[in-house]
Amino acid sequence: MDNLPSMSTLVIGAAVLAIGYLIHQSLVQQPIPGIPHNKSSAYTILGDALGMLGHFRKHKSVWDWASIQAGNLNSPMIQLFIRPFGKPIVFLFDIREGQDIQTKRTNEFDRSKFFGDLFAGTIPNHTIRMQTDEKFKKQRRLLMDTMSNRFLTEVAGPHVVKTSQDVVELWVEKARLANGHAFEALEDIAHFAMDGIWAIAFGSEIGTLNTHSSFLKRLDEVELPSDLDSPVVIPAPTVPADYEALITITKAIQPAAVSPFPLLAHWWERQSTKYRKAVAHKNRLVQERIQDAKDRMLKSTATEASINSGVDNLVYREKQAADREGREPEYDSPNAKDELTGFMIAGNDTSAATFSWIVKFLADSPHYQDKLRAAINDYFVGDLAKNGRPTTQALVKAQITYLDAAVEESLRLAHTTPGALRKSLVDTQVLGYHIPAGTDVFCMSNSFGVDVVSPWAPPEESTRSKTSQESKNRTGSWNPDGIMDWVPDRWLKQDEKGRTVFDFHAGPSTPFGLGPRGCFGKSRPPCILVIPQY
Ligand code: HEM
Repeated sequence: MDNLPSMSTLVIGAAVLAIGYLIHQSLVQQPIPGIPHNKSSAYTILGDALGMLGHFRKHKSVWDWASIQAGNLNSPMIQLFIRPFGKPIVFLFDIREGQDIQTKRTNEFDRSKFFGDLFAGTIPNHTIRMQTDEKFKKQRRLLMDTMSNRFLTEVAGPHVVKTSQDVVELWVEKARLANGHAFEALEDIAHFAMDGIWAIAFGSEIGTLNTHSSFLKRLDEVELPSDLDSPVVIPAPTVPADYEALITITKAIQPAAVSPFPLLAHWWERQSTKYRKAVAHKNRLVQERIQDAKDRMLKSTATEASINSGVDNLVYREKQAADREGREPEYDSPNAKDELTGFMIAGNDTSAATFSWIVKFLADSPHYQDKLRAAINDYFVGDLAKNGRPTTQALVKAQITYLDAAVEESLRLAHTTPGALRKSLVDTQVLGYHIPAGTDVFCMSNSFGVDVVSPWAPPEESTRSKTSQESKNRTGSWNPDGIMDWVPDRWLKQDEKGRTVFDFHAGPSTPFGLGPRGCFGKSRPPCILVIPQY
């Protein structure tokens, strides 16, 4: 009897076991019943995170990994355990249901915190992090007009035309020095995007492209490889400090976007001296630009026509709103500053990535490049004959069917952003599966995922929401043959008069997300204005 454990030992032992079990249960990732998943990843602490990171290490991408999982699980909707200690994320590859969630089910789904967390360390007060409530709507108004037709054609358009002339000028210089060799252009596109978005946001120049062109103009020649097929290395000057600061801040978001711990990953990025200096520099710049806009836009002579940038618009509208509401204007609030910074951060990397892909697709497809050039020359035939080149206004207002098709096709294949992340606000259903309140649902932007052609049978119509069933024939479907090829013509159709027109609904593709929380800058990716200038 002496060897038997005492009652108190038994109680303590049982308590330890029970607590251990509860801790284990709270740490492991519990699957949402019924939604397909990797069985070996459920009820573990790391879940699918190791598989995802392993794929990332090898291929430098994670979204193709997600679509491969959907292919393996043979389902348009799966759950993946990519947040250790967190809940699974549902990945939806059925584009119609994704569109429905983003546009018609906004009382059931809103901005996901997981998405907002990517920006928490950079622009904590930006609307991108907010739920779609009254505070969001009020703050959104600060820059809302920058997506109006008037702003796009009269303010943003001319800035982008000017910046695109700068990049063409740089490439003319590079081509002169390259003397028939290929040269590196990727960084130039990043500089083009930043110079362009800066000009739209602030109306001034940071001059990254011009600094480079001026530097090259002083060179008579560069060392050329003996083999004409080898690319030439063209020297570059140090980039302007403004560019360096903004790109440092922008690039620090990327590690967070592919990490199972976005907040921690971004915190780590923020610890470097380089990052801290970049933030101090950016804060100074934004403050200066707001002050400059106040000096001009608060004069009694300032009118709507004086608006030449996003910050001018912000100051002008905030003054009007404050007068109307009988309060002090808040031009310099942390929210206004983050809204301006977010405009640049959300706009520059996405535009640069998309435009880089456009250049690559054009270079890889001489046939379609010729077709596009012919369509552009045809459209501007009058301007070319009169002035040798299209005017700024002609470029800004251009409606070129084949250019629209080429840009849309590039957005379809570039996968600049993988999709739109939403959070369920209530217990609900998607494709017949129960989705508990608080679940993150990733609506992928391309129905075929990244490199699989969907192997699953189409979901039963009855499992779809009513609004999804109603929109059954709204968007066409792609022929799976050659679906990964860049073919702008897939976006064209004949109208009733036999004319070739651009068909926005030719097939599924939602590169900007949709609905009230779709991309703010989607109305016209500014990068496209460079294309007609070749
Ligand atoms: C080709 C370029 C671009 C692509 C592919 C892109 C894509 C996206 C996507 C997929 C989203 C998430 C939408 C959602 O959750 O439904 C988004 C959000 C956003 N984008 Fe873009 N974007 C681009 C350019 C721009 C530009 C130029 C700007 C600014 C001028 C911008 C500003 C924003 C903002 C502020 C949001 C958050 C919207 C919100 O919270 O309601 N984007 N973008």
